[in-house]
Amino acid sequence: MTLNPRSPFTPYPRGWYMACLASELPVGAVLPLHYFGREIVAFRTEDGAPHVVDAHCPHLGSHLGHGGTVEGNCIRCPFHGWQFEGETGRCVRIPYAEKVPPNARARVWPVREIDGNVLVYFHEKGALPDWEVTPIPVEEGDWSPWQETRWKIKACIQDVSENDVDNAHLPNLHQFTAHAPEGTLEAKGPVLELRLQLETNLESLGMSGVAKGPLNTTKWGLSIGYIAHFLDLGGIQISTRTLGHTIPIDEHYVDVRLFHSIRRTPFEHVNEQLEAQYFKIFKATVEQDIVIWENKLHLARPLLCEGDGPIAAFRKWARQFYSEDEVARAMAQ
Ligand code: FES
Ligand SMILES: [Fe+2]
Repeated sequence: MTLNPRSPFTPYPRGWYMACLASELPVGAVLPLHYFGREIVAFRTEDGAPHVVDAHCPHLGSHLGHGGTVEGNCIRCPFHGWQFEGETGRCVRIPYAEKVPPNARARVWPVREIDGNVLVYFHEKGALPDWEVTPIPVEEGDWSPWQETRWKIKACIQDVSENDVDNAHLPNLHQFTAHAPEGTLEAKGPVLELRLQLETNLESLGMSGVAKGPLNTTKWGLSIGYIAHFLDLGGIQISTRTLGHTIPIDEHYVDVRLFHSIRRTPFEHVNEQLEAQYFKIFKATVEQDIVIWENKLHLARPLLCEGDGPIAAFRKWARQFYSEDEVARAMAQ
């Protein structure tokens, strides 16, 4: 196995990952993807179901994502026309042969469609998922449409995920918080809930002073995170939400797709400006993190101190997404 030279852990922990947006995969679409250091193909069959399979046809190795087509509930290989069922991967038809070899089968990946995202489950040995991602919370009010920012980052997923619980970096690297926040972290199996009270530095919004408000993060494994932030500016209450997906591309890079939305206030004239300002701050904040992620080492044994927040608790929780052997191997380095 190839490792990221800057982290002792595998770049591909177990869990659910976004393969694509549901809107990127209409019925009949075939999408070649490169994630987890391998080639895979997403497609949507005529019954409306999304599927993901290993890219290379078991017959003679053609890439199903380059010229493959959807036929009914199957994907058809462009080379000799073998058809593989989306649901099972079983080859159900060979145009020039009566008998289909019994072991002719494309490897199918577990797939779910949730909140407009097509998710795929990765396990290093191909084991089936033993947990599910639940829908993001329904927030009341009139929200701006989700807006995406996407980066290809030279980083390991563990570092990107850990950023959400790294309280001490907030006032230091990012200037929008006045102090390292106080908060609680609760692990519920593969789900992690983080509740922080954030003191936002209003200078970042072109005002003076600080405003307090909760920042609640829910994480489903190391890849998917949802952040809801509430800020009371006296007269104006601001709520924002971010849905983040980090998907390992290979042992060096991750694909980070962040979707933001802000609740419209009753003050029509400030909404557009608030939205623009919020997206600008968010993008600038992530770009501050990127400089760190792209150059740091992931230390398996960091030197932590009081005030670092729940990093140690987070790492304990994160171990469930690696095999025991992998944790032992990484920690022994
Ligand atoms: S390589 Fe796919 S059908 Fe021959
Ligand atoms: Fe950060």
